[in-house]
Amino acid sequence: MTYEYKNLLVEIQDDGVTTVSVNRPKFLNALDTPTLEEMKDCFGKLATDPAVKAVIIRGAGEKAFVAGADLKAMSTMTAVEGRDFSNLGHEVFDAIEKLPVVAVAAVNGYALGGGCELALACDFRFASTTAKFGQPEVNYGIIPGFGGSQRLARLIGKGYAKEMIYTGAMVDAEEAHRIGLVNRVVEPEQLIPTCEEVCRKIMKKAPIAIASAKDAINRGLSMDLESGLSYEAQVFGTCFATLDQKEGMKAFLEKRKPVFMNK
Ligand code: CAA
Repeated sequence: MTYEYKNLLVEIQDDGVTTVSVNRPKFLNALDTPTLEEMKDCFGKLATDPAVKAVIIRGAGEKAFVAGADLKAMSTMTAVEGRDFSNLGHEVFDAIEKLPVVAVAAVNGYALGGGCELALACDFRFASTTAKFGQPEVNYGIIPGFGGSQRLARLIGKGYAKEMIYTGAMVDAEEAHRIGLVNRVVEPEQLIPTCEEVCRKIMKKAPIAIASAKDAINRGLSMDLESGLSYEAQVFGTCFATLDQKEGMKAFLEKRKPVFMNK
């Protein structure tokens, strides 16, 4: 598959670790419609590309992960255009959330508005010490439109989410770590190596089990506990229909490392 874009850089390493960089550094990687359309195409392809084993999402340049949706483009939108723009963002971020492989956000600078929301669509977030998070939409008379009003509260709880969204204030990497918005904070030069290391650790596990765990967690979060547990039992059961389940348990009993085949 080819991944040639104007505002995205895609690098697939030989072992399957794939990095997608939002590449509009002049505008701090702000997301406009053409960039979102490219992301939609890109994540759609990555989801079915057998060469892709893990995805790291980052911003190009030193300063920003993504400084939000493009304010210039939004400034002239009508209500209908605003809704359509939000829906396009949702399509892209849902596609990221549903990738069958792990998606890690490598937050290397500003992650504001749509940038924070992009990070939220990933499985988890690692931040450099220079990262800054925020949902500043109320400063512009709008609310988060790419999932922030939903995913942020689900991740950090409604108290912290409401404080971030109502004040529009930025939180630094340490504070983001304290409130559970990011899993780890590392020095800037360690950010990508740390993300790659965790991806490689996950890539050694049974791929269908990873995809199934991801699906069970994500889907379960929008269910009541009883339905979530019932869904878990269903997904748990389907794992037993895979060759990798047979191999994983056989390898344990034979005291050797499993060789998974993604089958
Ligand atoms: N949209 C469009 N352009 C943006 C942008 C954005 N979200 N963020 C930064 N830029 C552009 C700036 O306009 C500037 O371009 P020019 O040189 O042509 O003027 C360039 O990027 C560099 O930015 P600054 O000069 O402002 O850099 P700075 O270091 O002084 O400040 C910043 C950095 C604090 C991140 C500041 O740029 C800023 O506040 N940006 C806006 C961030 C924001 O509010 N994002 C949320 C948008 S709303 C949203 O995302 C809605 C949603 O949920 C979908």
